[in-house]
Amino acid sequence: MPSATPPTFGTSNIPPADSTFAPAAASPELAKPELTKPELTTPAAATPELPTPDLNTPDLNKSHSATSRVQLPNRPNASIHSQPGLHQHGVEIQAFGTVRLFPLALAHDTRSYCCQRLNSLLADAQILNALYKKHHWLMRGPTFYPLHLLLDKLAGEQVALVDTIAERIQSLGGIAVGDPRHAAELTQIPRAPDGCEEVPAMLSRLLEAIELILTDARNAADKAAELGDHGTNDVIVSNIIRTAELHAWFLAEHLVNTPLARA
Ligand SMILES: [Fe+2]
Repeated sequence: MPSATPPTFGTSNIPPADSTFAPAAASPELAKPELTKPELTTPAAATPELPTPDLNTPDLNKSHSATSRVQLPNRPNASIHSQPGLHQHGVEIQAFGTVRLFPLALAHDTRSYCCQRLNSLLADAQILNALYKKHHWLMRGPTFYPLHLLLDKLAGEQVALVDTIAERIQSLGGIAVGDPRHAAELTQIPRAPDGCEEVPAMLSRLLEAIELILTDARNAADKAAELGDHGTNDVIVSNIIRTAELHAWFLAEHLVNTPLARA
């Protein structure tokens, strides 16, 4: 027959809740546990004999970490290795077009809207950078060298701009367009022919791309300011618009038909 009284599990020395706590008088002498020195094993005794990998006949099905694993001498059940975990595939943890919640004192809808506008500008900025490089490579004729250098300089500034826009999107909790094939789907800049155009046509193409960006950027800057996202407004005005205006000047001057040797 089981006992009706519930068993106690070593609680007989716990004072009732309303009792006065008097440590010295109330606590019985607790027996000190005898600390025994752990038996130290020598590394040689603790380490099991590891099989020597046969390097001549590698087993392709075996993980690399199995052969690079090191047994720890004083921790017989643990081992370490420095093999990177390769070929890992996971799930998407944030969808493009969504924004995470950051403590920015900005409404979700504002951040979502500004990320969308910034991603359009980011896609255009990436495509313009690609066009600068394309035309840097394809440049030719008597002005080859200065234009070759100029377009590389503009591409470098465009790369910095791409990073600034992308990091603004990330700081708003969004996902920046990264894959150039994704950028190609979003951009409003027309695709250039795969071949080579005449030099003035290449420069005009770049100027038209810049004007498309400026039109979109001015509108996006106004909307961001209206919504109270002054950080995004500042990135668009200080970085995108000012960079584009400067680039337009440098390129447009090369389309002025001035005599080079005689006035
Ligand atoms: Fe180059």
